[in-house]
Amino acid sequence: MNTHQPSTDRYDKMQYTYCGNSGLLLPRISLGLWHNFGSVDDFGVATDMIKYAFDNGVTHFDLANNYGPEPGSAETNFGRILKENFQGYRDEMIISSKAGHSMWAGPYGDGSSRKNLMASIDQSLRRTGLEYFDIFYSHRYDGVTPVEETIQTLIDIVKQGKALYIGISKYPPAQARQAYEMMKAAGVPCLISQYRYSMFDRAIESETLPLAAEYGSGMIAFSPLAQGLLTDKYLHGIPENSRAARSTGFLQLSQVTDEKIQKAMQLNELAVRRGQTLAEMALAWVLKDERMTSVIVGASSVRQLAANLHTLDNLSFSAEELAEIETILNK
Ligand SMILES: NC(=O)c1ccc[n+]([C@@H]2O[C@H](COP(=O)([O-])OP(=O)(O)OC[C@H]3O[C@@H](n4cnc5c(N)ncnc54)[C@H](OP(=O)(O)O)[C@@H]3O)[C@@H](O)[C@H]2O)c1
Repeated sequence: MNTHQPSTDRYDKMQYTYCGNSGLLLPRISLGLWHNFGSVDDFGVATDMIKYAFDNGVTHFDLANNYGPEPGSAETNFGRILKENFQGYRDEMIISSKAGHSMWAGPYGDGSSRKNLMASIDQSLRRTGLEYFDIFYSHRYDGVTPVEETIQTLIDIVKQGKALYIGISKYPPAQARQAYEMMKAAGVPCLISQYRYSMFDRAIESETLPLAAEYGSGMIAFSPLAQGLLTDKYLHGIPENSRAARSTGFLQLSQVTDEKIQKAMQLNELAVRRGQTLAEMALAWVLKDERMTSVIVGASSVRQLAANLHTLDNLSFSAEELAEIETILNK
């Protein structure tokens, strides 16, 4: 019995776009469960965020085997949230998971070997209680495992019915090309490529983004707010309980530099002139590239998620605004 009745107008509140050359529509804003959904976090807040997301047309939820802490607990919690609130809605959701980072003890709990990926997807399916993932990713190229071994495993996972589509994350361009070629030849093309991208990290612009587009892969940006640096959160110090202040957060205090804060302040002034928050402008800036299928946002409260969904109210930039952003970023 569901405790939640989703809003009926949820699909009117979101914009959807086709993922690369596929027939799969993804929401422009997806929700990531890397932080704030683990066993150390407030389960009530986590539940409310998933409900709010779904009620507002966010159909895509991004997980990985190791999300927590503790590792695995984000998948366990998500599975419980689904069971308690969303029975009967599986076909309205796109649920992603990944394997490739350190997860369990011993030589097989890390990396991109066939052994790790095959064991990992079974564990992830058990934790979430799902019969299949919509998208399963190789979380990283590990520098050792031949790309052929990892990609053949992803192809086999689709053939076994454990995932509908496959993707890669953080692969360097040479290995990404090899992966795209192999998937294409097998008739299981790469649906989506997941990379870090924000105004503060534009590394994918030169090679990775055009390469994904060349092979018809969608692109989805992670950490589009630079883990909170591209919001107004750190403009006047480091708030208690922020990701940078929390011991379980991946944002190091050393990453909150004066230079970043200065830039964020100037960007914030421009955002205010546009009638947006800095977070909204930062997300809109990522989405302005038509090759960018979606952004995966993180949130620690319903309030943040709600605020970030307002991004869709204004996704366009004038040439002058874009030039001003370039000037600020290149200072
Ligand atoms: N493929 C990969 O290797 C990889 C790596 C990293 C992430 N990801 C995926 O990408 C997702 C998003 O990454 P991310 O969490 O780093 O994204 P992000 O959107 O850049 O950062 C999210 C954090 O920013 C702060 N925030 C968000 N909205 C805010 C607002 N309106 N006002 C003030 N602060 C706000 C919150 O931090 P506070 O906690 O401080 O409130 C929130 O937890 C992850 O959940 C995961 O699914 C994938």
